Amino acid sequence: MDIRHDEGLKETVSNGIWPEESLARVPYWVYQDEANYKREMERLFEAATWNFVCLEADIPSKGDYRTNHVGIMPVIAVRGADGGVNCFENRCSHRGALIAFDDGGNVGNQFRCVYHSWSYDLSGNLRGIAFERGINGVGGMPKDFCREDFSPRKLRTTTLAGLVFATLSPDTPPIEEYIGADVLGRLKRVLNRPIRVMGRFVQPLPNNWKLYVENVKDTYHASILHTFLTTFRISRLTQGGGVLVSPDGGNHSSYTIAIPEGANANAYKEQQIRSDLDGRFALADPSVLDSVEEFGDHIQLQILSVFPGFILQQIHNCLAVRHVVPRGVGKMDLVWTYFGFADDTPEMNRRRLKQQNLVGPAGFISMEDGCVGGFVQRGTAAAAEQVSVIEMGGSTAESQATRATEASVRGFWKAYRRFMGY
Ligand code: FES
Ligand SMILES: [Fe+2]
Repeated sequence: MDIRHDEGLKETVSNGIWPEESLARVPYWVYQDEANYKREMERLFEAATWNFVCLEADIPSKGDYRTNHVGIMPVIAVRGADGGVNCFENRCSHRGALIAFDDGGNVGNQFRCVYHSWSYDLSGNLRGIAFERGINGVGGMPKDFCREDFSPRKLRTTTLAGLVFATLSPDTPPIEEYIGADVLGRLKRVLNRPIRVMGRFVQPLPNNWKLYVENVKDTYHASILHTFLTTFRISRLTQGGGVLVSPDGGNHSSYTIAIPEGANANAYKEQQIRSDLDGRFALADPSVLDSVEEFGDHIQLQILSVFPGFILQQIHNCLAVRHVVPRGVGKMDLVWTYFGFADDTPEMNRRRLKQQNLVGPAGFISMEDGCVGGFVQRGTAAAAEQVSVIEMGGSTAESQATRATEASVRGFWKAYRRFMGY
């Protein structure tokens, strides 16, 4: 489709042309174009999508809050007086300052803007204005000023298995329907009881946000890029597994089942794949891989995503949610939250702590993911009109019983193009 045919787009996307209908070709300007980035905020993040804002376990009590972003919009998620979770724009309706500037905490009954002390209740309603009546009858706000007309934008929230999502649109379907039955089943497989937050950090990445989302959905790369996964046979394409893609393409779950590789045991060596260092390296302390079967189905690795920017990870007993936050066309933050379950034994807690070395910015497995998005961003600097080839496993976006496929990456583009009107 030539997007120049769309009159509205002619002005917003400088020189971008979607090359063809196939989901297997994506032009590189999508990672570079400022106008496209702005359009994503309106068409994706502020439209009929569910955006992860926090865990219920982050805000168990009234007045507990977390700050986050929906696209570039700063938001506050707070446990309200009625026990529900409210979410509203983190923007004071006076002059636009952040209402809350910490990552989280407990705010009591109200938020108070630091700039001129206007205050907001736990639903985001403007409640108080400092010196509203002036001093000795002089100054102050006009008598007919109506506070109700000046509250920050409110988002609809929904909770699912301990996750909190928010949306600005009245049209976003119920979260279960949005995720789709197959992927929902895999989400509930991991989030099957009350969780316990173990730690969190933010990893800035030098690439467009979509490059990280693609990386997460790209199960083909995992055992080729990641030396640790392959060498210690945590996940190889030659083991069992596959990828589930929701009917609309936007959500996915990939998984590895530890079955013997049989005749394929030497496939990586035969293809001279860099990541296979089996026989050359061993772990001095193998206890980092001391795992227990936790979910009763022999799936040792499962990565799941919900469009546009939520990720749930199970690598052995290392559990985390990751949240993709755009920070400009060529930058993003990856917000990690490690968790376990409220009923973990001390032994399981130690096991999870040790396995958390597998992921994160310096993780034995996922440190390479912090680089490859930047490699693509740099490699495509002069190639806005060129295209990537996303054709492993065909050119459609259905679930497949293999991980030698890019079906879920194509699924992302299927959903993306629908929302963006491309
Ligand atoms: S900007 Fe918040 S009170 Fe003035
Ligand atoms: Fe990876």
